[in-house]
Amino acid sequence: MALYRINIPASLFIGAGAVERVSPQAARLGMKRVLIVSDPAMVQSGRPGQVVDLLNAAGLEAVVYGHVQPDPTDQNVHEGLHMLREHRCDGLVAIGGGSSIDAAKGIAVMATNTGDLPDYMGYDKIPRAGLPLIAIPTTAGTGSEVTKVAIITDTQRDVKMMMLDPHLLPTAALVDYTLTFTMPKPLTAHVGVDTLTHAIEAYVSRKANPMTDVIALSAVRLVGQHLRAAWEQPDNAPAREGMMLAATQGGMAFSNSSVCLVHGMSRPIGALFHLPHGLSNAVLLPAVTRFSLSGAPERYAKVARTLGVAGETESVAAAGRKLIDALERLNADLGIPRLSACNIPHDRFEAALENMTADAFASGSPQNNPRVPTPEEMMALYREAY
Ligand SMILES: NC(=O)c1ccc[n+]([C@@H]2O[C@H](COP(=O)([O-])OP(=O)(O)OC[C@H]3O[C@@H](n4cnc5c(N)ncnc54)[C@H](O)[C@@H]3O)[C@@H](O)[C@H]2O)c1
Ligand SMILES: [Fe+2]
Repeated sequence: MALYRINIPASLFIGAGAVERVSPQAARLGMKRVLIVSDPAMVQSGRPGQVVDLLNAAGLEAVVYGHVQPDPTDQNVHEGLHMLREHRCDGLVAIGGGSSIDAAKGIAVMATNTGDLPDYMGYDKIPRAGLPLIAIPTTAGTGSEVTKVAIITDTQRDVKMMMLDPHLLPTAALVDYTLTFTMPKPLTAHVGVDTLTHAIEAYVSRKANPMTDVIALSAVRLVGQHLRAAWEQPDNAPAREGMMLAATQGGMAFSNSSVCLVHGMSRPIGALFHLPHGLSNAVLLPAVTRFSLSGAPERYAKVARTLGVAGETESVAAAGRKLIDALERLNADLGIPRLSACNIPHDRFEAALENMTADAFASGSPQNNPRVPTPEEMMALYREAY
């Protein structure tokens, strides 16, 4: 068996009320002054304020950097870092979706290293561990709370910089599904399909391994059981709980295997046309899966059976076809539009195709796909999703 590496946070608390562990965890990690990282809508919701109260009640000081944008930027990281230094903070708590958690990861490692963010792009480029970080996800979602990945936009070049390094792992994650009841339907749909994409890509990736396989398939099963219910009934506690667990498992799986062609092609769309991350994955998922099927037919058939859309006795080919149908139906049922309906003018899309294709290959993700496209094939896939 090949050698492989697994990295996950040192502590995970999963379940209703997990957020209340924030003070004992912060204290255990030696924090005295905490920088809370979040975004404007979350700040308005009052959640970061509740975390401040919990920390204060335990005798810890806390300040909030609440300006993270969706798809966080290098500027967000630099502003947060400035605040961290100004208040001499010794640890961080991120509360929000993948954007807040990724921004906090960037701030945490910038606080202890001398380089700038572009120096850390790619694999294992961060010399020193960051300040301790407690991640509290509020979308079920990216799984960023358990990944060694951060994605920060370089505003000069309009490129989403992907960094992969164990130093980016949160020290602890508090995974509390009760924070997700407030997600509106489109967000539930986008982040839910992002989770499914993480799980499928982790499982079909050339970097899949026996540890990530079981976790990825568990996430696929949970999405099959709970995504539609979470979308239809925002207050459905078992569905929200199932999707939160799926998101964390999806993150754990892809972070220790990899994402593949969907994510590789999705990041340039997000960077250029500012589509939410989950949405740009969702619009690509059916077409990319159809293209990739022949590279790992047995694995895709297993995904179809685990998702609950093909029977155990059906042939591999039939299960593959049913998977594509199911992914198309899922997008339609969750109201996910085609790219052409996402405010992307056709001429701008066509003009960007070559650059998007180059950026996608440069990320390295497409090369993990069971079937690696040529640049022409990738452009054809972009057009198919449009
Ligand atoms: N690091 C990783 O491993 C990883 C993996 C996948 C994606 N990502 C990144 O994560 C980002 C996307 O994160 P996301 O999809 O979680 O969304 P997000 O963090 O960008 O948040 C989107 C919006 O949802 C709102 N929101 C968050 N939680 C809510 C709740 N419970 N109720 C109501 N509104 C809520 C936020 O305030 C924000 O306005 C992208 O930048 C993507 O590249 C990172
Ligand atoms: Fe993702």
